[in-house]
Amino acid sequence: PTVETKTALRARMSGYASDRKTTVLVPTMGALHAGHLSLIQIAKRVADKVIVSIFVNPTQFAPGEDFEAYPRDISADMALLARENIDLLYLPAPDAMYFGDHSTRVIVGDVGEGLETDHRPTFFHGVALVVNKLLNQVRPDIAIFGEKDYQQLAVIRRMVRDLDMPIEIIGAPIARDPHGLALSSRNRYFDAEGLAVARTLNHILFAARDALQGGAEISETLSNAKQKLVHAGLSDIDYVSLADAATLALKTDGHVAARMRLLIATHCRGVRLIDNCAVISQ
Ligand code: PAJ
Repeated sequence: PTVETKTALRARMSGYASDRKTTVLVPTMGALHAGHLSLIQIAKRVADKVIVSIFVNPTQFAPGEDFEAYPRDISADMALLARENIDLLYLPAPDAMYFGDHSTRVIVGDVGEGLETDHRPTFFHGVALVVNKLLNQVRPDIAIFGEKDYQQLAVIRRMVRDLDMPIEIIGAPIARDPHGLALSSRNRYFDAEGLAVARTLNHILFAARDALQGGAEISETLSNAKQKLVHAGLSDIDYVSLADAATLALKTDGHVAARMRLLIATHCRGVRLIDNCAVISQ
Protein backbone atom coordinates (compact mmCIF):
# COMPACT_ATOMS: atom_id res chain seq x y z
CA PRO A 1 0.00 0.00 0.00
CA THR A 2 0.95 3.60 -0.68
CA VAL A 3 0.05 6.69 1.34
CA GLU A 4 0.57 10.22 0.10
CA THR A 5 -0.69 12.40 2.94
CA LYS A 6 0.38 12.85 6.55
CA THR A 7 -3.17 11.95 7.67
CA ALA A 8 -3.19 8.64 5.81
CA LEU A 9 0.32 7.93 7.06
CA ARG A 10 -0.72 8.59 10.67
CA ALA A 11 -3.68 6.21 10.38
CA ARG A 12 -1.41 3.40 9.19
CA MET A 13 1.23 4.08 11.84
CA SER A 14 -1.39 4.17 14.64
CA GLY A 15 -2.63 0.81 13.39
CA TYR A 16 0.87 -0.67 13.69
CA ALA A 17 1.24 0.85 17.18
CA SER A 18 -2.03 -0.62 18.43
CA ASP A 19 -0.99 -4.00 17.02
CA ARG A 20 2.27 -3.57 18.99
CA LYS A 21 4.37 -3.82 15.85
CA THR A 22 7.86 -2.31 15.67
CA THR A 23 8.53 -0.08 12.68
CA VAL A 24 11.52 0.86 10.54
CA LEU A 25 11.82 3.64 7.97
CA VAL A 26 14.09 3.58 4.91
CA PRO A 27 14.14 7.14 3.50
CA THR A 28 15.07 7.48 -0.20
CA MET A 29 14.83 9.85 -3.13
CA GLY A 30 13.67 7.08 -5.45
CA ALA A 31 15.37 5.90 -8.67
CA LEU A 32 15.73 2.77 -6.60
CA HIS A 33 18.58 0.34 -7.17
CA ALA A 34 20.07 -2.68 -5.41
CA GLY A 35 21.74 -0.37 -2.86
CA HIS A 36 18.34 0.82 -1.66
CA LEU A 37 17.05 -2.76 -1.73
CA SER A 38 19.93 -3.87 0.53
CA LEU A 39 18.69 -1.33 3.12
CA ILE A 40 15.19 -2.80 2.81
CA GLN A 41 16.59 -6.32 3.41
CA ILE A 42 18.18 -5.12 6.65
CA ALA A 43 14.96 -3.32 7.57
CA LYS A 44 13.00 -6.57 7.32
CA ARG A 45 15.33 -8.20 9.82
CA VAL A 46 15.16 -5.46 12.46
CA ALA A 47 11.45 -4.59 12.73
CA ASP A 48 7.97 -5.95 12.06
CA LYS A 49 6.80 -3.26 9.63
CA VAL A 50 8.95 -1.74 6.88
CA ILE A 51 8.09 1.73 5.62
CA VAL A 52 9.95 3.17 2.60
CA SER A 53 9.69 6.84 1.71
CA ILE A 54 10.39 8.35 -1.69
CA PHE A 55 10.79 12.12 -1.85
CA VAL A 56 13.19 14.08 -4.04
CA ASN A 57 14.02 16.76 -1.52
CA PRO A 58 14.44 20.19 -3.15
CA THR A 59 16.14 21.79 -0.12
CA GLN A 60 19.23 19.58 -0.41
CA PHE A 61 19.97 20.60 -3.98
CA ALA A 62 21.84 23.86 -4.55
CA PRO A 63 20.96 26.10 -7.51
CA GLY A 64 22.76 24.59 -10.51
CA GLU A 65 22.72 21.05 -9.12
CA ASP A 66 20.60 18.33 -10.71
CA PHE A 67 17.25 18.73 -8.85
CA GLU A 68 15.19 19.04 -12.05
CA ALA A 69 17.22 16.37 -13.84
CA TYR A 70 17.37 14.00 -10.85
CA PRO A 71 16.07 10.61 -12.10
CA ARG A 72 12.39 10.12 -11.22
CA ASP A 73 10.68 6.89 -12.19
CA ILE A 74 7.90 6.15 -9.73
CA SER A 75 6.38 3.31 -11.74
CA ALA A 76 9.74 1.50 -11.98
CA ASP A 77 10.28 2.13 -8.25
CA MET A 78 6.85 0.75 -7.39
CA ALA A 79 7.47 -2.33 -9.55
CA LEU A 80 10.75 -2.96 -7.69
CA LEU A 81 9.12 -2.44 -4.30
CA ALA A 82 6.24 -4.77 -5.20
CA ARG A 83 8.76 -7.62 -5.20
CA GLU A 84 10.23 -6.59 -1.85
CA ASN A 85 7.10 -7.11 0.19
CA ILE A 86 7.37 -3.86 2.11
CA ASP A 87 4.48 -2.82 4.35
CA LEU A 88 4.05 0.81 3.36
CA LEU A 89 5.31 3.26 0.76
CA TYR A 90 5.18 6.89 1.87
CA LEU A 91 5.11 9.14 -1.17
CA PRO A 92 4.57 12.73 -0.03
CA ALA A 93 3.40 15.07 -2.79
CA PRO A 94 6.25 17.36 -3.93
CA ASP A 95 4.43 20.53 -2.87
CA ALA A 96 3.02 19.17 0.41
CA MET A 97 6.29 18.60 2.27
CA TYR A 98 7.23 22.23 2.87
CA PHE A 99 5.00 25.07 3.97
CA GLY A 100 5.42 27.99 1.58
CA ASP A 101 6.80 30.08 4.43
CA HIS A 102 8.78 27.38 6.25
CA SER A 103 11.56 29.07 8.16
CA THR A 104 13.10 26.56 10.57
CA ARG A 105 16.59 25.36 9.87
CA VAL A 106 18.41 22.30 11.20
CA ILE A 107 22.16 22.84 11.12
CA VAL A 108 24.47 20.13 12.40
CA GLY A 109 27.93 21.46 13.25
CA ASP A 110 31.16 19.50 13.69
CA VAL A 111 30.52 16.28 11.72
CA GLY A 112 28.40 18.39 9.36
CA GLU A 113 31.36 20.64 8.52
CA GLY A 114 34.22 19.96 6.11
CA LEU A 115 34.37 17.21 3.43
CA GLU A 116 31.04 17.46 1.54
CA THR A 117 30.27 20.84 3.07
CA ASP A 118 33.39 22.38 1.50
CA HIS A 119 31.83 21.69 -1.90
CA ARG A 120 28.09 21.65 -1.16
CA PRO A 121 27.79 24.22 1.66
CA THR A 122 24.04 23.90 2.29
CA PHE A 123 23.58 20.24 1.38
CA PHE A 124 23.36 18.90 4.94
CA HIS A 125 21.02 21.72 5.98
CA GLY A 126 18.53 20.30 3.49
CA VAL A 127 19.22 16.67 4.43
CA ALA A 128 18.92 17.28 8.19
CA LEU A 129 15.73 19.29 7.67
CA VAL A 130 13.97 16.70 5.54
CA VAL A 131 15.14 13.71 7.59
CA ASN A 132 13.97 15.46 10.75
CA LYS A 133 10.58 16.07 9.14
CA LEU A 134 10.31 12.50 7.80
CA LEU A 135 11.21 11.04 11.21
CA ASN A 136 8.62 13.29 12.88
CA GLN A 137 5.97 12.38 10.32
CA VAL A 138 6.57 8.62 10.34
CA ARG A 139 7.83 8.28 13.95
CA PRO A 140 9.47 4.88 13.33
CA ASP A 141 11.34 2.95 16.01
CA ILE A 142 14.34 2.59 13.70
CA ALA A 143 15.63 4.32 10.56
CA ILE A 144 18.29 2.96 8.19
CA PHE A 145 20.85 4.94 6.17
CA GLY A 146 23.68 3.73 3.93
CA GLU A 147 27.38 4.13 4.60
CA LYS A 148 27.64 5.11 0.93
CA ASP A 149 26.83 8.60 2.19
CA TYR A 150 29.09 8.27 5.20
CA GLN A 151 29.06 11.90 6.33
CA GLN A 152 25.28 12.06 5.88
CA LEU A 153 24.96 9.07 8.22
CA ALA A 154 27.19 10.83 10.79
CA VAL A 155 25.13 14.03 10.50
CA ILE A 156 21.88 12.15 11.06
CA ARG A 157 23.29 10.20 14.03
CA ARG A 158 24.46 13.48 15.59
CA MET A 159 21.14 15.25 14.98
CA VAL A 160 19.12 12.38 16.46
CA ARG A 161 21.39 12.25 19.50
CA ASP A 162 21.55 16.02 20.06
CA LEU A 163 17.78 16.51 19.69
CA ASP A 164 16.83 13.43 21.76
CA MET A 165 14.85 11.97 18.90
CA PRO A 166 13.64 8.56 20.17
CA ILE A 167 14.76 6.66 17.09
CA GLU A 168 17.54 4.12 16.60
CA ILE A 169 19.74 4.81 13.58
CA ILE A 170 21.29 1.87 11.74
CA GLY A 171 24.11 2.26 9.20
CA ALA A 172 24.14 -0.18 6.29
CA PRO A 173 27.21 -1.34 4.32
CA ILE A 174 27.82 -0.05 0.78
CA ALA A 175 26.29 -2.17 -1.99
CA ARG A 176 28.55 -2.40 -5.06
CA ASP A 177 28.23 -3.68 -8.61
CA PRO A 178 30.35 -6.72 -9.62
CA HIS A 179 33.17 -4.29 -10.54
CA GLY A 180 33.11 -2.69 -7.12
CA LEU A 181 31.41 0.55 -8.19
CA ALA A 182 29.21 1.81 -5.35
CA LEU A 183 25.62 1.70 -6.60
CA SER A 184 24.06 5.14 -7.03
CA SER A 185 21.00 6.62 -8.69
CA ARG A 186 23.38 8.90 -10.59
CA ASN A 187 25.21 5.93 -12.20
CA ARG A 188 22.45 5.88 -14.78
CA TYR A 189 23.87 9.11 -16.20
CA PHE A 190 26.89 7.11 -17.53
CA ASP A 191 27.34 5.55 -20.96
CA ALA A 192 29.43 2.35 -21.17
CA GLU A 193 32.68 4.27 -21.46
CA GLY A 194 31.89 6.53 -18.49
CA LEU A 195 30.92 3.50 -16.44
CA ALA A 196 34.31 1.91 -17.14
CA VAL A 197 36.07 5.05 -15.89
CA ALA A 198 33.79 5.30 -12.82
CA ARG A 199 34.62 1.72 -11.92
CA THR A 200 38.31 2.55 -11.42
CA LEU A 201 37.42 4.76 -8.44
CA ASN A 202 36.89 1.91 -5.99
CA HIS A 203 40.16 0.24 -7.01
CA ILE A 204 42.06 3.45 -6.27
CA LEU A 205 40.20 3.74 -2.95
CA PHE A 206 40.98 0.18 -1.87
CA ALA A 207 44.61 0.39 -3.02
CA ALA A 208 45.06 3.47 -0.81
CA ARG A 209 43.37 1.67 2.08
CA ASP A 210 45.70 -1.32 1.67
CA ALA A 211 48.72 0.99 1.61
CA LEU A 212 47.59 2.79 4.76
CA GLN A 213 46.87 -0.48 6.54
CA GLY A 214 50.32 -1.68 5.48
CA GLY A 215 51.87 1.30 7.26
CA ALA A 216 52.27 3.82 4.42
CA GLU A 217 52.49 7.51 5.36
CA ILE A 218 49.15 9.31 5.13
CA SER A 219 49.94 12.49 3.14
CA GLU A 220 51.96 10.49 0.60
CA THR A 221 49.21 7.92 0.21
CA LEU A 222 46.52 10.55 -0.24
CA SER A 223 48.51 12.43 -2.88
CA ASN A 224 49.31 9.16 -4.66
CA ALA A 225 45.62 8.37 -4.80
CA LYS A 226 44.89 11.85 -6.20
CA GLN A 227 47.46 11.34 -8.97
CA LYS A 228 45.90 7.99 -9.82
CA LEU A 229 42.44 9.57 -9.99
CA VAL A 230 43.63 12.26 -12.40
CA HIS A 231 45.36 9.60 -14.49
CA ALA A 232 42.21 7.47 -14.63
CA GLY A 233 40.07 10.38 -15.88
CA LEU A 234 38.52 11.04 -12.48
CA SER A 235 39.92 14.55 -12.23
CA ASP A 236 38.10 17.56 -10.78
CA ILE A 237 38.65 16.00 -7.35
CA ASP A 238 36.69 17.45 -4.42
CA TYR A 239 38.59 15.55 -1.73
CA VAL A 240 40.60 12.46 -0.89
CA SER A 241 40.58 12.48 2.90
CA LEU A 242 41.25 10.29 5.88
CA ALA A 243 39.01 10.98 8.86
CA ASP A 244 38.27 9.52 12.27
CA ALA A 245 35.43 7.06 11.66
CA ALA A 246 33.26 8.55 14.43
CA THR A 247 34.13 12.25 14.69
CA LEU A 248 35.20 12.76 11.04
CA ALA A 249 38.18 14.80 12.31
CA LEU A 250 40.74 14.79 9.49
CA LYS A 251 44.13 13.16 9.81
CA THR A 252 46.46 14.56 7.16
CA ASP A 253 49.85 13.04 7.95
CA GLY A 254 51.63 10.37 9.94
CA HIS A 255 50.30 6.86 10.14
CA VAL A 256 46.93 5.27 10.71
CA ALA A 257 46.43 4.86 14.42
CA ALA A 258 42.76 4.34 15.17
CA ARG A 259 39.52 3.41 13.46
CA MET A 260 39.47 5.70 10.43
CA ARG A 261 37.52 6.20 7.22
CA LEU A 262 38.97 6.98 3.81
CA LEU A 263 36.62 9.15 1.76
CA ILE A 264 36.78 10.27 -1.88
CA ALA A 265 34.59 12.69 -3.83
CA THR A 266 35.42 13.41 -7.44
CA HIS A 267 33.83 13.71 -10.87
CA CYS A 268 33.55 11.36 -13.80
CA ARG A 269 32.39 12.91 -17.08
CA GLY A 270 30.64 15.67 -15.15
CA VAL A 271 28.87 13.30 -12.75
CA ARG A 272 29.79 13.59 -9.09
CA LEU A 273 30.98 10.31 -7.53
CA ILE A 274 31.56 9.54 -3.85
CA ASP A 275 32.93 6.43 -2.19
CA ASN A 276 34.53 5.49 1.13
CA CYS A 277 35.82 2.56 3.13
CA ALA A 278 37.01 1.63 6.59
CA VAL A 279 40.73 1.79 7.41
CA ILE A 280 41.80 -0.19 10.42
CA SER A 281 45.21 0.16 12.04
CA GLN A 282 47.03 -3.15 12.29
P1 PAJ B 1 19.22 8.42 -1.74
O1 PAJ B 1 20.43 8.89 -2.46
O2 PAJ B 1 18.05 7.95 -2.53
O3 PAJ B 1 19.68 7.27 -0.77
C1 PAJ B 1 18.76 6.69 0.13
C2 PAJ B 1 19.53 5.82 1.09
O4 PAJ B 1 20.16 4.76 0.38
C3 PAJ B 1 20.65 6.60 1.81
O5 PAJ B 1 20.68 6.22 3.18
C4 PAJ B 1 21.90 6.15 1.07
O6 PAJ B 1 23.07 6.21 1.85
C5 PAJ B 1 21.52 4.72 0.74
N1 PAJ B 1 22.31 4.20 -0.38
C6 PAJ B 1 22.41 4.72 -1.63
N2 PAJ B 1 23.26 4.00 -2.38
C7 PAJ B 1 23.71 3.00 -1.57
C8 PAJ B 1 24.62 1.92 -1.74
N3 PAJ B 1 25.26 1.70 -2.90
N4 PAJ B 1 24.85 1.09 -0.70
C9 PAJ B 1 24.22 1.30 0.50
N5 PAJ B 1 23.35 2.30 0.72
C10 PAJ B 1 23.11 3.13 -0.30
O7 PAJ B 1 20.49 9.78 0.60
C11 PAJ B 1 19.41 10.21 0.20
O8 PAJ B 1 18.67 9.59 -0.77
C12 PAJ B 1 18.78 11.48 0.75
O9 PAJ B 1 19.80 12.37 1.13
C13 PAJ B 1 17.81 11.23 1.93
C14 PAJ B 1 18.53 10.61 3.14
C15 PAJ B 1 16.66 10.33 1.50
C16 PAJ B 1 17.22 12.60 2.38
O10 PAJ B 1 16.60 13.24 1.33
